Amino acid sequence: MKTSDLLKPASREEAQLLEKLDPDRLPKHLAVIMDGNGRWAEKRHLPRIAGHRAGVKAAREVIETCARLHLRCLTLYAFSLENWRRPQAEVDFLMRLLREYLKRELPSIHKNNIRLLVIGRSEQLPEGVRKDIDEAMRVTARNTGMKLVVALNYGGRAELADAFNALLDHVRAHGLSAFHADEQTISDHLYTAGLPDPDLLIRTSGEMRVSNFLLWQIAYAEIYVTETLWPDFSRARLLEALVDFQSRERRYGGLGSGKGRAGSGGNGNPKRSGHPVRG
Ligand code: FPP
Repeated sequence: MKTSDLLKPASREEAQLLEKLDPDRLPKHLAVIMDGNGRWAEKRHLPRIAGHRAGVKAAREVIETCARLHLRCLTLYAFSLENWRRPQAEVDFLMRLLREYLKRELPSIHKNNIRLLVIGRSEQLPEGVRKDIDEAMRVTARNTGMKLVVALNYGGRAELADAFNALLDHVRAHGLSAFHADEQTISDHLYTAGLPDPDLLIRTSGEMRVSNFLLWQIAYAEIYVTETLWPDFSRARLLEALVDFQSRERRYGGLGSGKGRAGSGGNGNPKRSGHPVRG
């Protein structure tokens, strides 16, 4: 099978990129820090919210492309714990945009067999948002295609704290005097339990930071930073990132054997084996 059997190129550039892409060595789990909506808007003398609207369009194209390429999992960083520090009007707009997106796109997400999951402290989100998320997760719960994970009110350190507290609760509840947690135990208590670790992390708009995103899970991820601002992150830019990923040699701390080319196996962590998602 060729990638062009999965995806119809809309331009010569896309066709050339698809030609270079090996469908058997795509990332299993792509994680994306969508950055640069505000700067995109400022460059056009538009209000920041116009950048977020354009960002939703880019997200839709990336989601559709990843689903067509049969990625197992796509995680989008939509709202961090730190994002509450933005002006109230912008926060309110982002929440409204998310609800609008869910309402409009849920039928197509469901039709495409995509399962929607949300990670983060969702209990602290406004009630309307929680309701819409619960509904979207319920409707898509039995879908077997790509998992679309939206990180909302998410922080990597908070996730680790929540995992450690869940483990401590378990120890207390069972009156365990001796308890040993290994790496798998910790992975199993993260919001992402059951998902493969990301093997590729993309960040747009040029910042060289991980911004408290999936801190545990990206231990072995390839990192791709592009100057492109998120609203301009088109399908061609995504394909470019995937081609770059496939050109890398992944060694996981070893010396490399030629078999460690990106996408050639494993699930991002050489010690972990895939298992079904929890919940
Ligand atoms: C970064 O731009 C983006 C965000 C704060 C997240 C919002 C994302 C979207 C609206 C995309 C749609 C997502 C989904 C799940 C449908 P920024 O405001 O930080 O940009 P700046 O760094 O240029 O100010």
